[in-house]
Amino acid sequence: MTAPDAAHVDDLVVGWRRAIHREPELGFAEHKTSALVERELARAGIPSWRVAQTGVVGLLEGGKPGKTLLLRADMDALPVPERSGEPFASIVPGVMHACGHDAHTAMLLGAAVWLAPRRAEITGNIKFVFQPAEEGPGGAKPMIEAGVLLHPHVDAAVMIHVLPILPSGVIGWRAGPMQASADDFTIAVIGRGGHAASPQLGVDTIPVAAELVSSLQRIASREVDPLESVVLSIGTIQGGYRRNVIADRTEIGGTVRCFSHELRASMPERLRRIAGGIASAHGASCEVSYEWGYPPVVNDPRLTRLVAGIAERTPELGGVVELPAPRMGAEDFAYFAQAVPGCMLRLGVAPPGQDDPAMLHSPQFRLDEAALRSGVRTFCELALRLPQEL
Ligand code: NI
Repeated sequence: MTAPDAAHVDDLVVGWRRAIHREPELGFAEHKTSALVERELARAGIPSWRVAQTGVVGLLEGGKPGKTLLLRADMDALPVPERSGEPFASIVPGVMHACGHDAHTAMLLGAAVWLAPRRAEITGNIKFVFQPAEEGPGGAKPMIEAGVLLHPHVDAAVMIHVLPILPSGVIGWRAGPMQASADDFTIAVIGRGGHAASPQLGVDTIPVAAELVSSLQRIASREVDPLESVVLSIGTIQGGYRRNVIADRTEIGGTVRCFSHELRASMPERLRRIAGGIASAHGASCEVSYEWGYPPVVNDPRLTRLVAGIAERTPELGGVVELPAPRMGAEDFAYFAQAVPGCMLRLGVAPPGQDDPAMLHSPQFRLDEAALRSGVRTFCELALRLPQEL
């Protein structure tokens, strides 16, 4: 088989991306996407196997022994109705690739196909990981639990995620905190119901909940170092039956985002202390439940500098920039980056001529397909150079 040139691979990548975009699949239901990935890996002569239901792992063994680099793409779509106006828009009602995972999968597949006939130039191994369910409930953790980091042992993990606010084709990097953790909580305030005309006979949970809503904001404004970042947002509040009844139970639901593992670990106790104190001050009680979500993505500083250095030497990228700040969104690549040195890169996909592009997760989200070649080139150069620098 002759080695495909870069332009041919770029055409394949756009074709795959459009095919995946047209038939988006939700987490752990990426059957057609996985089948496409398996088919193309097999065609390129790369052995692959299934991990965590719909996850696919391909292994390319280089010509010389060395370290193992894991390159990761996610494959799942979102329950968002597409209104992008693209000719290849989703034909699945209410489901859309609104986070660019179609592009991630196509770019990594393109890199695999380009690299396969050039394996003699690779020192070490490249593990191509096509992960399900990034948007929830999470595919990274079950893949790791199923041993994706073993046989051969993975020495570093790199991923690329598109970002509409970066110019098309630009690679963005950042050492240290990159994406926030995302945990959820529910606080139930429990009092005593009664007639609204006789509040003294009940324990009204509505004013207790109201006090709690404002007091919880003081964690960020008064308790945490102002140079640390934490977001506590209350998204739901539910209580009461009708206007003349004292509500015996009110529930508050919210999310907590931060970058520091220590701060994150302290949050359930802070919530319990404040909720418990306010509830008991008013004769009510409370139940706090805290659900751990994805940890923060913290890019390994040494690996990230190596990756950025290789990107800077890669021809044909739209530029390489250091990102000024992390983002408060979450990404389950965090589990890979907790287990081995990890680096999450960004790829600018701003459609040309648009000053205010639709953001990720928007029904109007579109990306500039010309940017995808930057992602493919970056993966290929990392595969050729990074393992011997690890
Ligand atoms: Ni995403």
